[in-house]
Amino acid sequence: MKTKILMVCLGNICRSPLAEGLLKSKLDPRKFTVDSAGTGHWHVGNSPDPRSVEVAKKNGIDISAQRGMQFKPTFFEAYDHIFVMDNSNYRDVMQLAKSQADKDKVSLILDEVFPMENVDVPDPYHGGVDGFDNVFAMLDEATTIIADRIS
Ligand code: 4NP
Repeated sequence: MKTKILMVCLGNICRSPLAEGLLKSKLDPRKFTVDSAGTGHWHVGNSPDPRSVEVAKKNGIDISAQRGMQFKPTFFEAYDHIFVMDNSNYRDVMQLAKSQADKDKVSLILDEVFPMENVDVPDPYHGGVDGFDNVFAMLDEATTIIADRIS
């Protein structure tokens, strides 16, 4: 059976699509499934933000076929691990958890790089292109650590 991993942010168009694309590119697709979702509903069915598509593309990753979905409580059963991008996503997802087992599946993705420091992946939605390069670099580092550990 495949190990299923979910990346979560607020809109599911900027950060978590990059996290999904990056981790997917580092894992064996026969053994792992990686998806992403937003805690918000605004971008369900939408493509990722063009700035995320662009930064991924210039780094050799195609995320253009991804479509937005909203995080649902049933995802606690569907996924083995849920990585959230920031502390606000963490609170929103934890509020939907029904058991300790659900809660145990959730962690901040940058805990991988800066354990116990509660570091957020900043939301680049309202910023410039620099923001997306910065987010890509952070998620590249975090997903390399995750892939090395679980592969
Ligand atoms: P994301 O960024 O959570 O990294 O996808 C956002 C994108 C859109 C919105 C918020 C955050 N929005 O409010 O539409």
